[in-house]
Amino acid sequence: MPDSLTITDNRTGKSYDVPIEHGAIRATALEQIRAGEDEHGLLVYDPAFLNTASCISRITYIDGDKGVLLYRGYPIEQLAEKSSYLETAYLLVHGELPSASQEAQWQHEVTIHTLVHENVKKFIDGFHHDAHPMGIVLSTVGALSTFYPDATKIYDEEQRRISIYRLIAKMPTLAAFAFRHSRGYPYIYPDNDLSFAGNFLSMLFKMVEQQYTPAPEVEHALDVLFILHADHEQNCSTHAMRTVGSSHPDPYSATAAAVAALYGPLHGGANEAVVRMIERIGSRDRIPDFIANVKAGNERLMGFGHRIYKNYDPRAKVIKKMADQVLSVTGSSTFLDIARELEKIALEDEYFVSRKLYPNVDFYSGFIYRAMGIPIEMFPVLFAIPRTAGWLSQWEESLLDKEQKITRPRQIYLGAGARDYVPIDQRG
Ligand code: CMC
Repeated sequence: MPDSLTITDNRTGKSYDVPIEHGAIRATALEQIRAGEDEHGLLVYDPAFLNTASCISRITYIDGDKGVLLYRGYPIEQLAEKSSYLETAYLLVHGELPSASQEAQWQHEVTIHTLVHENVKKFIDGFHHDAHPMGIVLSTVGALSTFYPDATKIYDEEQRRISIYRLIAKMPTLAAFAFRHSRGYPYIYPDNDLSFAGNFLSMLFKMVEQQYTPAPEVEHALDVLFILHADHEQNCSTHAMRTVGSSHPDPYSATAAAVAALYGPLHGGANEAVVRMIERIGSRDRIPDFIANVKAGNERLMGFGHRIYKNYDPRAKVIKKMADQVLSVTGSSTFLDIARELEKIALEDEYFVSRKLYPNVDFYSGFIYRAMGIPIEMFPVLFAIPRTAGWLSQWEESLLDKEQKITRPRQIYLGAGARDYVPIDQRG
């Protein structure tokens, strides 16, 4: 059987053979299908890209029905157990796990780029004390482009390398500065003797001590959370990164767009929304009323559901287990108990079962962040820090993909036809 699709246009009776490659047909293959000479070729209408592949990628694989997530072929569960965030970031960017010397070099490069220009502190100072840290991070990461004008040379491999080091290294610094600003605390400079996660905790929480020593369980849990959030193929923010990157700005500007996309409550803002939702529910006995409200369509059960996963999100499984471990060190949480009960009830309820709605990565992560003493408004920022490695891998892959061009979707126009301008005194 040939790998092709035969389409008959019933308007004209003509048939067309369209090749099938990698389980897909090219949308442009449909352009030849026209009802008449002057007609435009057939378009594919797919709002929100429900069934459209926008790129060929070799970075992350998801099987949503089976609940499988692989970075460059490696199962997320193995990476969470055996790798570190920086090693995983290397894997995403380079395609292979590093050798010992490559790992040391990578670690060194990222570590030496953690400082930001002193002027960054000045414009962070300009934000109102209660500015959302995600807003601060998205603005400051975009502003970094003005410090590195050579970053616009995106087809210079050396420039891409250094931008990748800088972005992965500086995101935690910007995030921590945003937090310290909201508290009115002095900014803490990076400590290169600490791990990636340990340094971030130090920049968040160090006060007057000579050296901040993170609790090993907390440092490890944060590193695992960073691994779990490092990439997730063509999600909303990654698509924003690729789309903005397709007009060839520097990667700092494209990353600002990705952070903006991640900010929304349907994407990276969901972890924040979950904790606020559980706080609002307040006690186990109010769960049935809440579920009834969700089923009536008045609100969503945040942290549940996914466009791709129609099974338990494998990241949520790791996080749920880790929440128990972290909370056994930091102390139990009534809110986590409510979340567990909510999950149990939802997983048995026909509404959620029939729609294949399972906990996603955001359902439990907020409770771990909270137990670490991280305030709720920082949660989406904690998603943005590790996702930067994924965004950059996808950005570079897209830039080097000869098939990619500036993103420019088509539309179906259903508005008014051409008509003459009417002066204001003659309008009805
Ligand atoms: N609570 C209640 N009902 C839901 C939920 C939910 N969380 N998610 C989906 N549904 C229902 C939805 O109402 C619809 O029902 P019906 O067919 O009766 O109209 C059906 O399930 C399909 O939903 P959809 O909105 O068409 O699904 P989607 O693929 O467009 O949305 C989603 C995916 C993640 C935006 C959505 O599930 C949602 O809003 N979840 C809550 C927010 C959340 O947790 N986001 C984090 C996603 S994971 C982290 C990330 O990658 O960003």
